[in-house]
Amino acid sequence: MDKILEIKKLNLGFNTEGGFRQALWDVSLDLNHGEMHALVGESGCGKTITAMSTLRLLPKNAEIKSGEIIYRGEDILNIAPAKLSTIRGAKIALIPQDPMTSLNPLYTVGDQLLEVIKIHQGLSGKAAYEKAIEALKTVQIPSAEERFKSYPHEFSGGMKQRAIIAMALACRAEILIADEPTTALDVTIQAQIMKLLQKIKTETGVSILLITHDLALVSENADFVSVMYAGRIVESARAEDFFKQPRHPYSLALLKSIPSNRGEKLETIQGQPPSIYQEITGCRFHPRCEKCFEKCKTEIPPLIPTAPNHTVACWR
Ligand SMILES: Nc1ncnc2c1ncn2[C@@H]1O[C@H](COP(=O)(O)OP(=O)(O)OP(=O)(O)O)[C@@H](O)[C@H]1O
Ligand SMILES: [Mg+2]
Repeated sequence: MDKILEIKKLNLGFNTEGGFRQALWDVSLDLNHGEMHALVGESGCGKTITAMSTLRLLPKNAEIKSGEIIYRGEDILNIAPAKLSTIRGAKIALIPQDPMTSLNPLYTVGDQLLEVIKIHQGLSGKAAYEKAIEALKTVQIPSAEERFKSYPHEFSGGMKQRAIIAMALACRAEILIADEPTTALDVTIQAQIMKLLQKIKTETGVSILLITHDLALVSENADFVSVMYAGRIVESARAEDFFKQPRHPYSLALLKSIPSNRGEKLETIQGQPPSIYQEITGCRFHPRCEKCFEKCKTEIPPLIPTAPNHTVACWR
């Protein structure tokens, strides 16, 4: 499988009133061509800032200490701003949690689509219009011709998400980064959006980085899974291997807390993930880990392969 995006040993933190606080530690993640890679973990573990790094859309007080993000042979963290703007939104498109932030409320959805088609596909007039309608149909927006004339506020949450996906496709984006694309939506619409992402992945070969804390969504849709805990990747594997044989105690705990086995009592993970303000020695999960022993408290477990395409950071 060739890689379309490689995040390599990313170390990133924030300058806060109390000084520099590291938030990502040696984060590495490969997105394979035409695959869906899910990045999973509890709230605050660093999923969004990992994703935003790939577009260099980070808060002002963020500081990248080291690492590389390789896209088409170049390090995104080092390319010139002019070149970056040809990648951002065009080659790598973001589907944010709140869709209103990427639609302009002053223009109709159709006009916004025409604009990106003009810029990215060099079409105008009837040809552009036809592409726009085709894009709306691809994302299964009903009555595309009427909806073309609607303003974003006339769309439901699920339709706004679809419109953003349509725009990303019209830009001919190669990578979609979907940051919790479904959390604001109800369960049926969530399932439809996931199905749609799955469909366009198959039809267009787009690669998708899916950020979520919902392992049930991941088991049904992803090709690859990376689990993040408190700013570190603790396990990474092909989805079928991950669900067959999860290795890291944190992955096991996350899996036990999904409501898939009806009737069984759900277990929740004891305690809370640490914030970036807490100093932790050794494995970052050790204070919550049932299998913790002395070494875990003092030495950081490296991410090592346990099988082909399966890496785990645990001393057990
Ligand atoms: N501008 C900032 N200054 C200081 N700390 C920040 C800043 N932005 C994010 N953080 C911290 O970085 C950590 C990672 O945040 P991030 O938004 O990536 O989490 P997440 O995994 O996406 O969580 P969620 O599931 O809630 O979206 C958190 O502890 C957060 O508090
Ligand atoms: Mg987030």
